[in-house]
Amino acid sequence: MERTLILIKPDGVKRKLSGKIISRFEEKGMKIVALKLLVLSKEKAEKHYAVHKDKPFFKGLVSYIISGPIVAAVIEGTNCISITRTLCGVTDGAKAQPGTIRGDYSMGIEKNIIHASDSMESFEYEWPIYFSPDEVLEYSSGDEELIF
Ligand code: CMP
Repeated sequence: MERTLILIKPDGVKRKLSGKIISRFEEKGMKIVALKLLVLSKEKAEKHYAVHKDKPFFKGLVSYIISGPIVAAVIEGTNCISITRTLCGVTDGAKAQPGTIRGDYSMGIEKNIIHASDSMESFEYEWPIYFSPDEVLEYSSGDEELIF
C-alpha cells in the first residue's frame, strides 16, 4: 500500500487545526501509520527543503517551518500520494479551491498550512527526517475492503 508524509505547519498547529486536518485524511479512508508533534531543527528543515535551496524564499521558508511545533504523519492508502495532494489543494492558499485544506484554511503561499510529499521519491527522502523505522507501524484497520 502506498504511503506519504504530511506535515501540519506551524500556522496549522497554532491555529488549532491539526485535528480537523488529520480527520480529512482519515475520513477519506487513509490510515495513520506514524504521528508526532515536534519542533524541527534548522539542519533538518534545510535537509527537507534542500531542493529549494537556491530559491529566494528558502531562508524564510526554513525560519518559518522551525518557528513552532509541527505535526508530522505518515499516512497510508491506495494512490495516497496523489489523493493527498488533491485534498491539500494547490501550493498558494489564495488560489486553492474551496473544499481543499489550503483552500479552506490558508490565504498564503508560505504559510500554507500543510506539506505533503509530491512523489514516491520525495516520500522516501522525507520520511526518515521525521521518523525512525520502528515508529512507522504496520497494522490492519480492518476496513480496507470497504474503502479500496
Ligand atoms: P510545501 O508543499 O511545503 O513545499 C515547499 C514550500 O515552499 C511550499 O509548500 C510553500 O510553503 C513554500 N513556497 C513555495 N513557493 C513559495 C514562494 N513563492 N514564496 C514563499 N514560499 C513559497
